[in-house]
Amino acid sequence: MNLLVTGGAGFIGSNFVRHTLTENPDYKVINFDLLTYAGNLENLRDVESNPNYTFVKGNITNRELLDYLVKKHDVNVIVNFAAESHVDRSITNPDVFITSNVQGTQFLLNVAKDNNIDKFVQVSTDEVYGSLGETGYFTETTPLNPNSPYSASKAGADMLVQSYFETFGMNVNITRCSNNYGPYHFPEKLIPLMISNAMEGKELPVYGDGKNVRDWLHVKDHCAAIDLVIKSGRAGEIYNVGGHNERTNNEIVELIVEKLGVSRELIKYVADRLGHDRRYAIDPTKLTDELGWNPKYTFDTGIEETIQWYIDNQEWWKNIKSGEYQNYYTKQYGEK
Ligand code: NAD
Ligand code: DAU
Repeated sequence: MNLLVTGGAGFIGSNFVRHTLTENPDYKVINFDLLTYAGNLENLRDVESNPNYTFVKGNITNRELLDYLVKKHDVNVIVNFAAESHVDRSITNPDVFITSNVQGTQFLLNVAKDNNIDKFVQVSTDEVYGSLGETGYFTETTPLNPNSPYSASKAGADMLVQSYFETFGMNVNITRCSNNYGPYHFPEKLIPLMISNAMEGKELPVYGDGKNVRDWLHVKDHCAAIDLVIKSGRAGEIYNVGGHNERTNNEIVELIVEKLGVSRELIKYVADRLGHDRRYAIDPTKLTDELGWNPKYTFDTGIEETIQWYIDNQEWWKNIKSGEYQNYYTKQYGEK
């Protein structure tokens, strides 16, 4: 199997590249990534000399390059992780979300169609379903109701993917996962931001009342789910991915404070995110019943391991935080 993985230098993509090379030693992986602020080849230093691994820098809006690569490497399957992924950045600068997430996906779909690719997997998100009340779960038939420019761009991409199934009979799957956490998570997102800020003795900015709920899944469990969908997902189907680990943001931040033994005084309530979704919760029954997926991590062991990873890999996140990130941070939080 020759797999084109787009966005493989980001958080989930790099974990997926590592997972694939380890679990499927007969696969070849071509990692195609633009290396935006979120793409980082340091995430894959340990696999770069693997003979089954190739990295190519490029934009998923570059049809000619994609077409050339698909032909050159005889690609059978495309897995699309490449996207602008941060909700806060989509509020301040939505344009690139449409170019990369919507147009980029359509270009990739066309390249897949023109080259008769065996399967196209779109890595999507539970955010396309919008926000839940205090009870209930997102299933695959929950209507799309995205609230941020980020989630709207992902919903647009999902609909294009489905249209290539309906119109051209392409073999596609869409996965919609809840919030991931784990190693190589970029420190603009809640968990790595709070861990790294706490280690630096910086304030821990909690939006609004901190009672918003997210459903956390270890990134390695997400990667295993995508692997299964590539192998056994039924054509045209959507699979929700989640492990029933709902936590309020307050619970997450308090847990990190406690585990790192820092002062609770660091917690600072700041202005709420615009259009802030209140609660996400995934029903993964279809994935479990059809493909036999079950998460391996409990949240307790996963978060413990993740905090330890950030303690052991300070150079990785300090390098990120010392660069362009500082401008972003000042704009977002009004301080360094
Ligand atoms: P990330 O921001 O860490 O990584 C995105 C990667 O895509 C980066 O390496 C970046 O360089 C690359 N990229 C961006 N635009 C590109 C373009 N135009 N061409 C080529 N490469 C480009 O994101 P992530 O958190 O790893 O998320 C990966 C995917 O999973 C995204 O599609 C996201 O919507 C989806 N997702 C994320 C989560 C989560 O909790 N992080 C949950 C569900 C789904
Ligand atoms: O649900 C899946 C989605 O999870 C993915 O599609 C997105 O790509 C990914 O970024 C993530 O989106 P969220 O907006 O849920 O993640 P984030 O880490 O940005 O925020 C998690 C919660 O924490 C959310 O309620 C906002 C809050 N938050 C976040 C930051 C960065 C804070 O309170 N303070 C912060 O500084």
